[in-house]
Amino acid sequence: MERVNEGAEAVMYLAKLGSEAILIKSRNRKPWRISKIDTEIREKRTRREAKLLLSARKAGAAVPGVAAVGRYSIFMQRIDGVLLKDSKPAAKDMLTIGTYLANLHANGITHGDFTSANIMLTPDGPFIIDFGLGAFSNSEEEKALDLLLLERSISKKDYTNALKGYKSVSKEYLRVISRLNEIKKRGRYQSRTLA
Ligand SMILES: Nc1ncnc2c1ncn2[C@@H]1O[C@H](COP(=O)(O)OP(=O)(O)O)[C@@H](O)[C@H]1O
Ligand SMILES: [Mg+2]
Repeated sequence: MERVNEGAEAVMYLAKLGSEAILIKSRNRKPWRISKIDTEIREKRTRREAKLLLSARKAGAAVPGVAAVGRYSIFMQRIDGVLLKDSKPAAKDMLTIGTYLANLHANGITHGDFTSANIMLTPDGPFIIDFGLGAFSNSEEEKALDLLLLERSISKKDYTNALKGYKSVSKEYLRVISRLNEIKKRGRYQSRTLA
């Protein structure tokens, strides 16, 4: 199996299922963690991420389809595209990304790491990936932080279009935006990883 990418938390492998490309996101052992705790963390996060992917799809966001879930790994559809951070998106793509985020939020899902490194563009439109820090949450704070991370990872023009898409769908737009402004004033985001 081809190892394609090593992230902070997981290793990605590429495999085939018939003619379909499958990506395996595997949470490998962290030797510095106590073994029992390590096992629990990896199991819990894997299960949560798989559930979030399934729920996100139901909520109307384009996300990788889940083919199977193991104890520490998710077998998912490989998206054939480029990361938003490496592309020049069309306005339409940014609008769609905004509507996807609003759909997630409306269904009580927060992404937790909603940056241009976790969004892919394809000829079939954008896909949201990496729900590894996601949560089932209706917290306005977490929703606002999704917008803040997006804002800080893309151009002003792209963010304006994404926000337009978000606004067109979200029934909680004003509440989330006022929370976002409050967070900015407070400077809470400085305590989060925004590198
Ligand atoms: N379903 C997918 N299809 C294609 N590439 C993917 C997919 N999921 C992840 N990737 C690639 O692997 C990288 C790491 O995956 P990600 O889920 O973001 O893991 P991490 O938690 O390590 O950030 C992504 O930035 C992307 O380039
Ligand atoms: Mg990621």
